[in-house]
Amino acid sequence: MTDSKQILVTGGAGYIGSHTCVALLEVGYQVVIYDNLSNSHEEVIHRIKKITGKNLTFVKGDIRDKDALKECLANYPCDAVIHFAGLKAVGESVEQPLKYFDNNLVGSLRLLEAMQESNIKTIVFSSSATVYGNPVYLPFDEKHPLAPTNPYGQTKLYIEEILKDIFKSASDWQICILRYFNPVGAHESGLIGEDPQGVPNNLMPFIAQVAVGKRDTLNIWGRDYDTIDGTGVRDYIHVTDLAEGHIRALEYLKDSSKLLVANLGTGKGSSVLQVLNAFEQAVKTTIPHAFKNRRPGDVAEAYANTFIANSLLKWKAKKDLNSMCRDHWHWQQKNPNGYNPK
Ligand code: NAD
Ligand code: UD1
Repeated sequence: MTDSKQILVTGGAGYIGSHTCVALLEVGYQVVIYDNLSNSHEEVIHRIKKITGKNLTFVKGDIRDKDALKECLANYPCDAVIHFAGLKAVGESVEQPLKYFDNNLVGSLRLLEAMQESNIKTIVFSSSATVYGNPVYLPFDEKHPLAPTNPYGQTKLYIEEILKDIFKSASDWQICILRYFNPVGAHESGLIGEDPQGVPNNLMPFIAQVAVGKRDTLNIWGRDYDTIDGTGVRDYIHVTDLAEGHIRALEYLKDSSKLLVANLGTGKGSSVLQVLNAFEQAVKTTIPHAFKNRRPGDVAEAYANTFIANSLLKWKAKKDLNSMCRDHWHWQQKNPNGYNPK
C-alpha cells in the first residue's frame, strides 16, 4: 500500500481494534480511532504508537452520538470505516438485552447514517461466528443457517441484515462483513493484548490468569462431549492474523462496489485440553484444572470453512496454537493487571 488513505476505526482502542490499528499503520494507512473507552484504556493509544513508531488520531466519542461522529469525519476526512465498537459479553447481553440493542444496534445505525451523510460508503464490520448458533453441519460456511442464541448474537445478525439492505438500496457501497471465530493471543511485543474486566468468560484469558496466579483453578466445562478428548472444540485464531484479515478486506473492497461475507478462522478445531497443554508448554509449568459440568448454551464443536477468505480476500491464518499461547502468555506476564498499573 503506498497511497495514504485514512481509516476511521470505531472501537480501535479495544482488543482486536488495537491490533488492527498496528497492522494498518504498518502498511501505510493513516488511522483515526473513535472509541468511548467503555471497555478500554487510553494507554492503548500510546502503546500502538510505541510499537509502530507512527502517529495516529484519537477521538473520544460514542458511536450513538451522530453529531460527534460527523464532526470527527469533518475534521478528519476518512476513506473507509472499520467498525469494531460494540459490547461483547454474551452473559451480560442475556441479562441486559436493551443495553446491547442500544449500544450495538442503535450505535451502528447512527454510524451508518453519519457515514452516508459524510459520503463514506466503505465499511468493514466485525461480526461473529455466534450468528450461526448451533451447528447444523460443520465446518460452518457462510451459507450455514443463521440462528443466534443470545441478544449479543442477535445484534450482530441485525447489523448484518441492515448492511445487506443498504447494499440493495444503493449499490455504490463497499461492504465486508467478517465473522470472527475465537480470537486469542497478543502482539509479539507484549505491549498490547486482551484486558478483560472482571472474571474472564473466555478460555484463554482465564487460563492466562490462572497461570499468572490471579486465579486458582481452570474449570473445564464438560468432558463428555463427542470430541477427540471429550472437551469442547473451537477454532482459535491469532489476533494478529485476524488484524491482517481487515487489511485484506480493505484491499478487496478498493476497486469496486461489492458486499462480501467471510469467516475468519483457521479452519482447525482445538479442544480445551489441547489449548491447556499448549499453554502449559508456553508457561513451562502445569496449570491447575478441574472438570465440571457442561456450560449451558455451549456446543461440542465449532470451526470455520475459510474458503471465501482464502480465495477472495487472499487471506489465510498463519499462526498455530503454540504461538497463540506463547504470545498470550508474554502479554499476560508483562502486564499482569492489563493496562491498569495497580
Ligand atoms: P473490546 O471490548 O476489546 O473492543 C471494543 C471497543 O469498542 C472498546 O474499546 C470499547 O471501549 C469500544 N466501544 C464499545 N461501545 C462503544 C460505543 N458505543 N462507542 C464507542 N466505542 C465503543 O472487544 P474486541 O474483542 O476487540 O471486539 C471487537 C469487535 O469484534 C466487537 O464488535 C465484538 O463484538 C467483535 N467480536 C469479538 C470477538 C472476541 O472474541 N473478542 C469475537 C467475535 C466478534
Ligand atoms: C464464546 C461466546 C461467543 C463468542 C466467543 C469468542 C458464549 C456462549 N459464547 O464462545 O459468543 O463469539 O466466546 O469470544 O459465551 N471453557 C472452559 N472453561 C472456561 C472457559 C471456557 O472449559 O473457563 C471452554 C468452553 O466450554 C468452550 C471453550 O472453552 O468449550 C471455549 O470457550 P470460550 O472461550 O468461552 O468461547 P466460545 O464458547 O466459543
